[in-house]
Amino acid sequence: MDFKGSHILSIQQFEQDDIDNIFTVADAMLPYARRQKVTRVLEGAIMGNMFFEASTRTRVSFGSAFNLLGGDVRETTGFESSAIAKGESLYDTARVLSGYSDVVCMRHPKAGSVAEFAEASRVPVINGGDGSNEHPTQALLDLYTIRKELASKGRGVDGSRIAMIGDLKFGRTVHSLCKLLCLYKNIHVSLVSPKELSMPDELIETLRSSGHTVSVSEELTASIANVDIAYSTRIQEERFQSREEADLYRGRFRLNQSIYTEFCEPNTVIMHPLPRDSRAEANELDVDLDKNPNLAIFRQADNGVVVRMALFALVLDVAHLVDQYAQDVRWFPGIGR
Ligand code: ASP
Ligand code: CP
Repeated sequence: MDFKGSHILSIQQFEQDDIDNIFTVADAMLPYARRQKVTRVLEGAIMGNMFFEASTRTRVSFGSAFNLLGGDVRETTGFESSAIAKGESLYDTARVLSGYSDVVCMRHPKAGSVAEFAEASRVPVINGGDGSNEHPTQALLDLYTIRKELASKGRGVDGSRIAMIGDLKFGRTVHSLCKLLCLYKNIHVSLVSPKELSMPDELIETLRSSGHTVSVSEELTASIANVDIAYSTRIQEERFQSREEADLYRGRFRLNQSIYTEFCEPNTVIMHPLPRDSRAEANELDVDLDKNPNLAIFRQADNGVVVRMALFALVLDVAHLVDQYAQDVRWFPGIGR
């Protein structure tokens, strides 16, 4: 695809070459993300960061990524602090905001809303999560992480075995990840969820028609026994009618160190898009895994910065200019250590 000026709305818009392109640019962003260098390539550019749903990682890493390229960020969080609370439409909001920004990043609770916004926007729009539909930049950073973690163990994405665990019905990260895996070969995907929260049939079909094998189970331990990646997810409480309904599923697929030691292969990589629900009753990824070197969740979150930097650099067509506008770091770079 031609990234220049394009919206990033769904994983379905990418081909294999596009993913390779994003990851090559992301790798080149590492010295900047690690504060070994700074670049001013986007000096004067403004990113509008519009988050109408709770977020820590996506919102802040989009902002950091844009700042690290030298641009400025203007932000709206929550409906109540935007004029949508006064009845303004997404169309009008997009017309107005795109006059103030060079690129807009957006999260919204309704599936399809970011695409609707993009249609009215005069600048590229990047989807930071639209309801339970998609979270494309998360899938990109997940795959970037999977590639790196497996490469460090001498393996590749083709032929790998991946378990997705938890709320596969409402979890948009796994929806986007399934679509992304379709660009690779011969993967075994093990789907583990309560049957009420199973992966939508059309996504299972998409995986199978791409040549992957898929197994579906409600049993955690057998499903994580022979996998390279165990990708756990949170029960998406905000998509349920009530907290009580979400409570029915909490703790059903608890992964902790003793389960890992007993059932997983020694090098199985543990991933989670985060946030993990650390309340006692949630217990999806126990904190006793924090010392396990195969717990990749914080490396995964860190990777969000370089992947988002790469997307900005490609969409605003400055990937080839980043180093030309590089400078030395003048402060003590704690993050690079
Ligand atoms: N942060 C991810 C998302 O917004 C996963 C989650 O919230 O559970 O989709
Ligand atoms: N992974 C992710 O999207 O995290 P946030 O909800 O905190 O942005």
